[in-house]
Amino acid sequence: MLTIEELRVEVGGRAILNNVNMEIPRGETHILFGPNGSGKTSLMMTIMGFSGYTITHGKITFKGHDITHMPIHERARLGIGVSVQRPPTVQGLKTRNLVEVCAKYGRRTVDIEELAREVNFNAFLDRDVNHKFSGGEIKRSELLQLMAQDPDLILLDEPESGVDLENMALIGETINTLLHRGIKYAKGKPHRHSVTNASKSALIITHTGHILDYITADKGQVLFNGHLCCSRNAREILKWIGEFGYEECVRCAMEMTI
Ligand SMILES: Nc1ncnc2c1ncn2[C@@H]1O[C@H](COP(=O)(O)OP(=O)(O)OP(=O)(O)O)[C@@H](O)[C@H]1O
Ligand SMILES: [Mg+2]
Repeated sequence: MLTIEELRVEVGGRAILNNVNMEIPRGETHILFGPNGSGKTSLMMTIMGFSGYTITHGKITFKGHDITHMPIHERARLGIGVSVQRPPTVQGLKTRNLVEVCAKYGRRTVDIEELAREVNFNAFLDRDVNHKFSGGEIKRSELLQLMAQDPDLILLDEPESGVDLENMALIGETINTLLHRGIKYAKGKPHRHSVTNASKSALIITHTGHILDYITADKGQVLFNGHLCCSRNAREILKWIGEFGYEECVRCAMEMTI
């Protein structure tokens, strides 16, 4: 689905990503860990094609297309969707209209009211995008936009930040719906687990790992100082970071490569 080769990226004239190689096969969900400022958001924004992230070396391929220098709207049309870490407030634009645009990019006809019900968001559709939304409401708005677009590669930058524990189950279930994985939760615990159609892929950035209680991750990776330095089971990585911190996590990864 997505291949990144020897990617180097500069932001504001500073090298942020250094020789990143990554492969996300169709149907796989990868988790990206890394300390503050390690370049996680920059990587996601570069994959989506936001301006300000200058690729100085390397190549990004999506579904066989070289998208390295493709404009952001063409990437969206090809099937990449993102929920950004800090979405902007857009006064004068109703959330309903933005969701309609997302559906258009996904070339879908959607019943917005019905879609919004899935994320308990109907009451917010006629409010300006993110204007005075709470942290959790912003995340639900982002997911609603993704549901309307229905992309094949879903990029989620800290989907659980600012979300209370009850809404976490809703966020987890919505991500599974986006991934076309039919997993239902009762009080945060899975009671039915069936992968209905693992054709969608995802890259999810998390600090807390709470999202791992709700989704099935195929792999975890650690980004440190702009390098991907570890690739293994996501829960194992989370346990290591929790117990020993990132420095130790990186030392272990270095030892493994020697
Ligand atoms: N426009 C910019 N100009 C200069 N530096 C920038 C710019 N955008 C990002 N950076 C820097 O790039 C580095 C990586 O930022 P990035 O947002 O990718 O980190 P992150 O891993 O997502 O961190 P966090 O966990 O805090 O979200 C940081 O040091 C940040 O200050
Ligand atoms: Mg970030």
